Amino acid sequence: MSGPDPVAVRDTFTSVAPRYDLANHLLSGGIDFLWRRKLVKQARQGAHNQILDLATGSGDVALALRCGLSAKVKITGVDFCEPMLERARCKRDQQNLEKELNQFLLGDCLDLEFQDESFDLITIAFGLRNLADRKLGLSEMLRVLKPGGRLMVLEFSQPYFWFRPFYYFYLKGILPWLARLVTGDRDAYLYLGSSISEFPDRVGLAQEIKQSGFERVEHEALTFSIVALHQGWKKA
Ligand SMILES: C[S@@+](CC[C@H](N)C(=O)[O-])C[C@H]1O[C@@H](n2cnc3c(N)ncnc32)[C@H](O)[C@@H]1O
Repeated sequence: MSGPDPVAVRDTFTSVAPRYDLANHLLSGGIDFLWRRKLVKQARQGAHNQILDLATGSGDVALALRCGLSAKVKITGVDFCEPMLERARCKRDQQNLEKELNQFLLGDCLDLEFQDESFDLITIAFGLRNLADRKLGLSEMLRVLKPGGRLMVLEFSQPYFWFRPFYYFYLKGILPWLARLVTGDRDAYLYLGSSISEFPDRVGLAQEIKQSGFERVEHEALTFSIVALHQGWKKA
């Protein structure tokens, strides 16, 4: 469950931050909007007062939750890369959203500065794969979730078998070159390809979440299983 070097991860996101959103939308062909919409739809099932969006980056998930959920819900985004958070705060301010209800805080997912049992719902989108220690990250998530609270993980997964050759050809052969045109940083997207190929499939990730102490875990494949949405519940 050990992952990439956190210093290298922070440097990578610092370098791509100014063009992160554009690259995301272009390189995914806009499907990232559909993945986030799916997450928000699932998040609507349940009453929440306090939501934590981990590895929030430029804030797209936190802001999509803001649009889709009650205006009273407090949404806190946490990331350890300040330039990504600056983008998130900028988008929040452009949308005239309240700072108190839409916080973006600097912090480390592996050492969260929140008390035990603080949140009803935790989301993490395309972040778990980037954590240096997934086991530690998941145990921190369990700790700060309230009893009966829910974790939602939106993350790249292993595509259906028949689709893998096409997908990995795009991911490792084409995407880094396209990314270089958009972001000027080919290496960041070489890292993306290798981090995805090394990441567990849906069943493997469900097992990891369960082994971390979540009582019930469900998962769903999205877009030929390029991406998966896992949900885990803490014992009530
Ligand atoms: C691929 S981006 C995802 C951003 C956003 N959730 C999204 O869906 O667009 C991954 C983010 O994880 C953050 N990250 C990685 N490890 C982290 C850690 N230990 N603590 C906080 N943030 C972390 C990076 O800084 C980066 O912003």
